[in-house]
Amino acid sequence: MSETRTEESPALARLERLREQARLGGGAQRIERQHARGKLTARERIAYLLDPGTFCELDEFATHRATDFGLERRRVPGDSVVTGWGEIDGRTVYVFAQDFTVLGGSVGEAHGRKICKVLDLALENGAPVIGLNDSGGARIQEGVDALAAYGEIFYRNVLASGVIPQISVIVGPCAGGAVYSPALTDFIFMTAGTARMFITGPEVIKAVTHEEVGAEELGGAEVHNRVSGVAHFAAPSEEETFDQVRRLLSYLPSNNADDPPYIPPTDPPGRMDESLDHLVPDDPAQGYDMRAVIERVADEGSFLEVQAGFAPNLIVGFARLGGYVVGIVAQQPAVLAGVLDSDAADKGARFIRFCDSFNIPLLTFTDTPGFLPGVAQEHGGIIRHGAKMIYAYAEASVPKLSVITRKAYGGAYIVMSSKHLRGDICLAWPGAEIAVMGPQGAVNIIFRRELREADDRDRLLDELVREYREKFANPYVAAARGYLDGVIAPRETRPRLIRALEMLRNKRVQRPMKKHGNMPV
Ligand code: HXC
Repeated sequence: MSETRTEESPALARLERLREQARLGGGAQRIERQHARGKLTARERIAYLLDPGTFCELDEFATHRATDFGLERRRVPGDSVVTGWGEIDGRTVYVFAQDFTVLGGSVGEAHGRKICKVLDLALENGAPVIGLNDSGGARIQEGVDALAAYGEIFYRNVLASGVIPQISVIVGPCAGGAVYSPALTDFIFMTAGTARMFITGPEVIKAVTHEEVGAEELGGAEVHNRVSGVAHFAAPSEEETFDQVRRLLSYLPSNNADDPPYIPPTDPPGRMDESLDHLVPDDPAQGYDMRAVIERVADEGSFLEVQAGFAPNLIVGFARLGGYVVGIVAQQPAVLAGVLDSDAADKGARFIRFCDSFNIPLLTFTDTPGFLPGVAQEHGGIIRHGAKMIYAYAEASVPKLSVITRKAYGGAYIVMSSKHLRGDICLAWPGAEIAVMGPQGAVNIIFRRELREADDRDRLLDELVREYREKFANPYVAAARGYLDGVIAPRETRPRLIRALEMLRNKRVQRPMKKHGNMPV
């Protein structure tokens, strides 16, 4: 008969002690400091982000082996990052959370090895990886080992790109070359007030360029969501940031061999919305909100905009149509008349490539006067930036649906998922204008002499514009050629798109063998 022991064994006691040390990270005082700054600890963050009770930790007892600069006295079980896996909405995700309370969350050899282990597991097992970044960067005391750790992380980020969704959440500093791991991932979330991303901080900038700038102004959530286009989402608190991450994941497949999650729709697929018939203003110079079109066509409440603050003349985001996830790319006529500029092209191209990697069909709404004219755009490289949109649409082999709601002029007609770039189903509303350029500009060029010599220039101009619009600026020329698959009443948009999406569910495309293309950048 076995003996019942009442006292804990020394081995168990040691395990408990080490676990307690790991849980305390950099100690109670540093945890308090973390809280005082309005930040959660690494473990609190993971607990909030994942489904309750699902976190399984890895490498809880990993430690660094550095001895320089007194580091041998500063070993904490788990080092400065908490890693493992868990579930979000019942689906497996891998996670790492840098622990700022331990050596400022700095990345040394052990820290890097832990992150690489979860990246390898995520890649081998086909599940998303979420990195919570709160770190002072490369651990200065570990020298080149710290740099090597980053290099190993970057390599894996690239390897995993297009295979599993990679999500970066910035909840503290993320400085120096450390920014490049998030930059290599698919989506960056930033918490306002505490998240900071920059290659060189305010002090280095002051020394080198004599510019004075605060850390928030240089690399805060606002700036990266509106100006630089580095980040995709911002939220006022960590909890709201994690809620956003969970919502984004509900649209994404676990890996590139899976389909995105289907949810049986409560919004009837056959629903027609008559208000769409009157949504586009009669005056072609007047703007309207394309978000209203998207919201009326998509399953109710399903639209999640991505990068809403950056290049707002182009809208990108995820929605559901009849329960199926689609990636939406749409001009926003309410901002700069929906022109395509360099930032919009960058934003659109990257989103299109994400959707194509992860089997998410593309739905395009077009209303654009074309590419933005101007010296700044030309000198800023609108040629190479605009080319990215063409490249991304042409390369995408997922189902591609499009609706021209009004203007599709010139290059922008071709770019925006046209038949010529192998759009599968291209539709237009009856007021669509498809032409080489807008009527005013066109008439001014082809009738320059007649207009110069006319007695009543304005009357002639009006007549010629009307004639041009009737002849060319309508959808029926394109429909006659088969460049459009149909002209539909706006109210029919939702059912028509859902039927098309179902028809294209088994789309397969063969492409020439190549190592990879060379997308303009
Ligand atoms: C080692 C670091 C560290 C680092 C911070 N700490 N950064 N330890 N290596 N890189 C430690 C501090 O010594 C301190 O230890 C604790 O973390 C908290 O730091 P504080 O400075 O007290 O915190 P705070 O005032 O909030 O400032 C945070 C900070 C600042 C803005 C991140 O610490 C900072 O500027 N750190 C250096 C950032 C940096 O230049 N990193 C290298 C970038 S180059 P104690 O013992 O007090 O808790 C790089 C190259 C990567 O990353 C290349 C990849 C390609």
